Amino acid sequence: MKDKLKKTLKPKRYQHSMGVAKTAKKLAVRFGADADKAYLAGMLHDCAKLPDMKDQLKLAAKYGMEFDEITARCPAVIHAPLGARHAREEYGVDDVEILDAIEFHTVGRADMTLMDKIIYVADMIEPTRDFRGVGKLRRLAGKNIDDAFIACLKESIEHNAKKESVIHPNTLEAWNYMMLHR
Ligand SMILES: [Fe+2]
Ligand SMILES: [Fe+2]
Repeated sequence: MKDKLKKTLKPKRYQHSMGVAKTAKKLAVRFGADADKAYLAGMLHDCAKLPDMKDQLKLAAKYGMEFDEITARCPAVIHAPLGARHAREEYGVDDVEILDAIEFHTVGRADMTLMDKIIYVADMIEPTRDFRGVGKLRRLAGKNIDDAFIACLKESIEHNAKKESVIHPNTLEAWNYMMLHR
């Protein structure tokens, strides 16, 4: 799997993927999820993030996938649902917990599972990530997965709002769910 992944992704993306795998495994041990599944989900979460967007769209067409309007207009998020399908077809993953964590790692969803949250958070804090505020996210992830997840969602919503980009309704659903159920 690693060889295949290495061949299809840019070196930096591959390095990021392995960082997410290791971070996700640590978080799984810390918060009581299946560490092997977390490692695999982390490793494959960006498996459909092919360097050329045209190749991602070709892959989506091959699988007969259609996207909602907002996803279609944010090409950067297509690789997540596409990745779940690709992990199943190309890497032989059939575990729903893993496939869901891949599918929702970019925009989130309401009522995310522990595995979903682990991959979402690991994606933002793995060792090669370097942005203002990442230290705070890492500290939160050392203590409480929900606090870390909320802080990561906030980071994503603020980032998109500042850029005046659209915010996917799933992200807002994830946010509202956490505000109502924390
Ligand atoms: Fe991603
Ligand atoms: Fe990623």
